[in-house]
Amino acid sequence: MRRIYLDNASNTKMRKIIIKIYKNLLYDKNISNPSSFHFLGRYSKYYIEKSREGISNLIKCKFSEIIFTSSGTEGNYIIISGAIKNYKIKYIITSRLEHLSVLNTLELFKEKIKIFYIDNDEFGNLNLNQLELILKNKTNYKYNILVSIMAINNEIGNINNIELIGLLCKKYYSLFHSDFIQYIGHYNVNMKKIYCHYFTASAHKFYGPLGIGFIYIKKGFEFKKSINIGILRNKIISDTDNLYGIVCVYYALKIFYKKYKKEKNKILKLKKYAIKLLNNKVKNIKYNGLSGDINRSSYNILNIRLPVKDDLLHVKLDLINIIVSIGSSCYSNKNKSYVLKYILRRNIYKNTTSLRISLGIYNKRKDIYIFVNKLKKLLLW
Ligand SMILES: Cc1ncc(COP(=O)(O)O)c(C=O)c1O
Repeated sequence: MRRIYLDNASNTKMRKIIIKIYKNLLYDKNISNPSSFHFLGRYSKYYIEKSREGISNLIKCKFSEIIFTSSGTEGNYIIISGAIKNYKIKYIITSRLEHLSVLNTLELFKEKIKIFYIDNDEFGNLNLNQLELILKNKTNYKYNILVSIMAINNEIGNINNIELIGLLCKKYYSLFHSDFIQYIGHYNVNMKKIYCHYFTASAHKFYGPLGIGFIYIKKGFEFKKSINIGILRNKIISDTDNLYGIVCVYYALKIFYKKYKKEKNKILKLKKYAIKLLNNKVKNIKYNGLSGDINRSSYNILNIRLPVKDDLLHVKLDLINIIVSIGSSCYSNKNKSYVLKYILRRNIYKNTTSLRISLGIYNKRKDIYIFVNKLKKLLLW
């Protein structure tokens, strides 16, 4: 039986062309340590700098503003701790709905820095008036505040108004970091149109390989003091570059920009079809966050809430080859969703079951049809 994969917000399968590029690089006898001074080192370094240039052209930023990391988690850690180490940050403003890689990093600094978590409603809408009020009251000098708010929530798909948040940060001279991990490679990111100092990206969310990502650091807001041992040129991390991953993350992004409109439409149609079918077949179904609203949520994420309690529903689906997730993908094996626990009323959270389905370019209408029908059967049991 074919496996139906509906967990693309957790990981996307590499495109065939990316696998081919990766394989060709592995066979290239001239590739060596890109930090070495000799010909092979310089040859390898060329690939890295070409990839950096390619990414900066795609998202319309400066070449030196792109720095490669090994994951989105590492990127979030580097930015938050780097900003704290390099600027006189007194306050951090964030929300409880951020990814755990952000929330856990912030925990490390809570003794030293006051952290404000802005409010949200039961749909996960953030209170941006409160954000502005805190910025207004707590700005004592330039860049004493770091705001960390994600572009798209990985669990409920809410699209946050990062354009407005960026403008508020600009107005109040605050640093703005945004987790772009569910945004870049899904939407047309153009840094000429967004005011933000730092963002994070991860290739395995947009059909690139696992173990490679990058961060954006706005010119003028670099980290002079490294958070790691040593500094190599414009790098803030002093390890050997993952050349294979770096070339592939560039190509994955390049292909995304080429195919963006067509692929987005395809996935959006699938999401609309899923909502229609679920509404018809599953009684009293609800959608968490804004994920049921196609204009205010990401086109690939749908978080459904069923009026029954069954903590093993996702396992039962797994046993019949249907892959979905509960909670944040990275932690779904261990924990239930902290995001839903936070936004939903207690009795609703306790007496219902939620599943996140996230769609990708390899999904077909048939996948949705089978998923909904199997789900209905399981619910009748
Ligand atoms: C919004 C968000 N931030 C950060 C991460 C972590 O990225 P990575 O898996 O590359 O460490 C994820 C992964 O699911 C995510 O969805």
